Amino acid sequence: MAESGKKRIVLGISGGVAAYKAAELVRLFRKAGIDVQVVMTDAACGFITPTTLQALAGRPVFTDMWDARIADNMAHIELSRGADAIVVAPATADFIAKIAHGLADDLLSTLCLARECPLLVAPAMNRQMWENKATQRNIAQLAHDEVSILGPASGDQACGEIGMGRMLEAQQIFDEVSSFLQPRLLTGKRILITAGPTFEAIDPVRGITNRSSGKMGYAIARAALDAGAQVTLISGPTSLAHVPSAGMEHVESANDMFVAVKKHAKSTDIFIAVAAVADYRVEKTSTQKIKKTDSSLTLRLVPNPDILAWVAALPKAPFCVGFAAESQNLLENADAKRRRKKIPLIVANLAQNAIGADDNELTLLDDSGTHTLTRAPKPVLARQLVAHIAKLYKSRKA
Ligand code: C5P
Repeated sequence: MAESGKKRIVLGISGGVAAYKAAELVRLFRKAGIDVQVVMTDAACGFITPTTLQALAGRPVFTDMWDARIADNMAHIELSRGADAIVVAPATADFIAKIAHGLADDLLSTLCLARECPLLVAPAMNRQMWENKATQRNIAQLAHDEVSILGPASGDQACGEIGMGRMLEAQQIFDEVSSFLQPRLLTGKRILITAGPTFEAIDPVRGITNRSSGKMGYAIARAALDAGAQVTLISGPTSLAHVPSAGMEHVESANDMFVAVKKHAKSTDIFIAVAAVADYRVEKTSTQKIKKTDSSLTLRLVPNPDILAWVAALPKAPFCVGFAAESQNLLENADAKRRRKKIPLIVANLAQNAIGADDNELTLLDDSGTHTLTRAPKPVLARQLVAHIAKLYKSRKA
């Protein structure tokens, strides 16, 4: 049995070369605190041994319908009881055909047929098998039966060909499954997020900016989507990939960001200002490149609008969350900022820990005091933060 509160998945492995990636997938699930029960088909055991998976999963692997370790011979029901999902990776063309038709002639297919939980499959096969009309028919049937299809990807194949049918990488499957397992704490809520730096042009080739990768804001956008929210992400210049399913607006300067925020602020439930907005801009941007001379150059800077303070002062302001990146006196400065901007929650982090890094450590300051989110990857922190915001938002509404 899984410890209470812990997620539990059944990982089914069918017989394809990509079975080796299942070992890494088990490791990722375990690292994230998810219990994994591995079930393998006979063919899968020809590609990777149950011993390897047992060692990684930390529990016995099942392959046989008649396994005597389950006293009542009900392995096909018992193993998925209480599971949050069954994930089959790799799912071969043959296995997909079987479950599309409701066949149950081995332990894994029987578990899939007898399940009460959602089923996710990660197809893995040669490109001709994937393109075959029978496989496409079976995939369409699974989608119709509300089975989630993860991938496949296109690329080099074990057979030497190149094309569609490669199984997703373990990390991609892990990301998709962990999104799927998130509680829908913000279903139907509209969330507006600013992320990344702003860029204030001096002339056509130079500008003033802040050091910000945008990673935290983008991770929060993903976590909010996973929690069921409708997300609009207004991003300054970053090198990050678009967040699928978020409404994205790309902006450059603080003024551009302000215009974009004004457009959405009145129809949002929650506003999360993660962007590192430049405090000042050049009073007059030169339309031509400023030529270098031997004398010093003075640029007159004027303050940018405080976007967050403006949103927080709206008559029907959304629930506002600010960020404070400080290099010293973290909590004092963050608390002062929270009061000055009149916002219910501020997220404090040390600039030297946060900028560009994949991990961070956060302190949340709200009316009830401080809450520490210990060092973790930004996507993990983003989920914890979204859960905290959902709790505060609900208690305010109540
Ligand atoms: O005022 P300060 O920059 O220290 O406050 C940081 C918080 O305010 C962040 O949430 C940031 O996104 C937001 N901010 C803003 N507009 C500005 C400056 C900061 O929305 N011009």
